Amino acid sequence: MRLALPLLLATLSTTACTTVDTPPPPAAQAERIVAPILTTPDAVDSATFAQPQVARVTHVDLDLALDFARKRVAGTATLDILARDDAAQIVLDSNGLRIDRITDGRGNPLPFEIGERVEAKGEPVTVTIGAGDAQARRIVVHYTANPQADALQWLSPEQTAGGEHPFLFSQGQAILNRSWIPTQDSPGIRQTWRARITAPEPLDVVMSGVAQGEPEDLGNGRRAFTFVMDKPVPPYLIAIAAGDIDFRAIGPRTGVWAEPEVLDRAHREVADTEDMVEAAEKLYGPYRWGRYDMIVLPPAFPYGGMENPVMTFLTPTFIAGDRSLTGLVAHELAHSWSGNLVTNAVWGDGWLNEGVTSYFENRIVEAIYGEKRARQEVALDYMAILETLEEVGHDAPGTALHHPEGTDSAGSAIVYNKGAAFLRTLERAVGRERFDAWLRQWFDNHAFQPATSNMIYEDMRANLARDAAEAERLMLREWIFEPGLPANVAKPDPAAFAAVDAASAAYAAQGTIPAAETWRGWTSAERQRFLRQVPRDRSAEQLAALDRQLGLAATGNNEELFLWLDLALANRYAPAVPQAESFLAEVGRAKFVRPLFVTLMDEGEWGADIAKRIYTETRAGYHAVTRDSVDKVVGWEG
Ligand code: BES
Ligand code: ZN
Repeated sequence: MRLALPLLLATLSTTACTTVDTPPPPAAQAERIVAPILTTPDAVDSATFAQPQVARVTHVDLDLALDFARKRVAGTATLDILARDDAAQIVLDSNGLRIDRITDGRGNPLPFEIGERVEAKGEPVTVTIGAGDAQARRIVVHYTANPQADALQWLSPEQTAGGEHPFLFSQGQAILNRSWIPTQDSPGIRQTWRARITAPEPLDVVMSGVAQGEPEDLGNGRRAFTFVMDKPVPPYLIAIAAGDIDFRAIGPRTGVWAEPEVLDRAHREVADTEDMVEAAEKLYGPYRWGRYDMIVLPPAFPYGGMENPVMTFLTPTFIAGDRSLTGLVAHELAHSWSGNLVTNAVWGDGWLNEGVTSYFENRIVEAIYGEKRARQEVALDYMAILETLEEVGHDAPGTALHHPEGTDSAGSAIVYNKGAAFLRTLERAVGRERFDAWLRQWFDNHAFQPATSNMIYEDMRANLARDAAEAERLMLREWIFEPGLPANVAKPDPAAFAAVDAASAAYAAQGTIPAAETWRGWTSAERQRFLRQVPRDRSAEQLAALDRQLGLAATGNNEELFLWLDLALANRYAPAVPQAESFLAEVGRAKFVRPLFVTLMDEGEWGADIAKRIYTETRAGYHAVTRDSVDKVVGWEG
């Protein structure tokens, strides 16, 4: 711990798990790191019911059974608690959990109360805790997660590549894990954890923790899997997946899990991962989590990727066959520093996770794939910032990086791309060497701790800028706390897309479509740039000509396919409807699904009818994240 952060509970030992007079039981015996929490007003998380300054969870021990027939997860969560001496209660987060009883570590029942439900946030569970030794301070929650738990998606065999076995995965970020784990679900309250999970054969289970030995055969057609995460993590990073999956190694500490049908293609696509870990370490210091494995999930997964520690979760839609979309892997890997080591204390400072990661991602891409690809990806991201600013206005409060409680960001182009543009601007201004040394010390000095916008601002003033005048010139305050794009922004390389921009201009002016060979020779970023620059208003003949020459509908690159479908639907191009329909029936990635429904809904009765017809069919196959985002678009009312 560097400098005196305003630590709450600072008077309690930072290595004790509860009070100290009785030795803790075996599971807790190893010295446990208890991460500090922040207590400044800007670090108070309004999305949790927890009152960590009174009593907080330091360790979670799960003992759960997966029931695929009833779509239920049931068992116990044993929580170690660090509490003020005078604390009589602890408050946990829940969202729809059925809690049967709660006991202390000795099995004595503890009174508890489930409070009133708050939309999206769930319900507080207030437990009266005993006084005394570790067992008295420990609580054991006996519970069952609802089949509709927001974090969990139970896939039918038809939703998998194999088609024979069911599949389960979780998505915790941002506040979904309280629907299957009763703990304090806030990014500023770090907890170590352990889990014993039983599942029916032949399914394998993976988690965002280190697997302990081989699964144990229980002799009843079920097996038990044990996982440990001995570093304190925010609870949104606890994740599980179970299905008919196999593993294949990439390098000495990297590998990939996927359904057998997908494993070959997945393995080829992520073959650069070991090199990426090395490149990342060279930039910003040792990878501190041991192994870096990934799982490629079925296409219903609602995100591109999720940075679950030691086990990144990935959509299969990034597999293009040519590694052109593997910036995704670089991104999730980079979170092993930005996000998982140093974590936004509140979701309103999400740029500390996503913006810093997007910058870091691009540095990894540059190291592995070279400057040309890296610069093009920067230029695409810059275009997205400008589009958002045009749309919502350069002075819209949501375009600041820091969002005070109760205000929302203007979207991912701000949190991700403006955040990355900020760091890139600093890098250009002070030079790579100084910038990299600063970012590395930021990770090192805040490792396994939460952070806020104010903290990084002060840190930049103290450790990056040489003096107050330089801090002023760098426009640190404007970048973090004010809307729009500060005047010193590092502009993307204007030559990054010289070739494709000339082709776009020729197409706009004379309707000249790039030759098929030229098109195939471009990078995916170039093809995406071209597709984004096609004039939005196209006739059926013009769309057919584009598709004929460029093979758009047949592309195996889902980013490009998405842009094509979006353009085609925006022009009510009938041949694209069945293709959009099968895409939307298979893929649950919100980034693709939501905009396609938005485009359809913008196309009058024609589009609204198609959208409603498709959504009626596909909605049940989407994760809660995707369902919630599309429900609003199509005006779905249960
Ligand atoms: N952590 C995010 C996913 C996320 C963000 C989940 C906010 C819930 C709330 C992940 O690292 C991410 O950014 N994924 C992107 C990857 C892309 C930017 C390369 C995605 O899913 O598209
Ligand atoms: Zn991310």
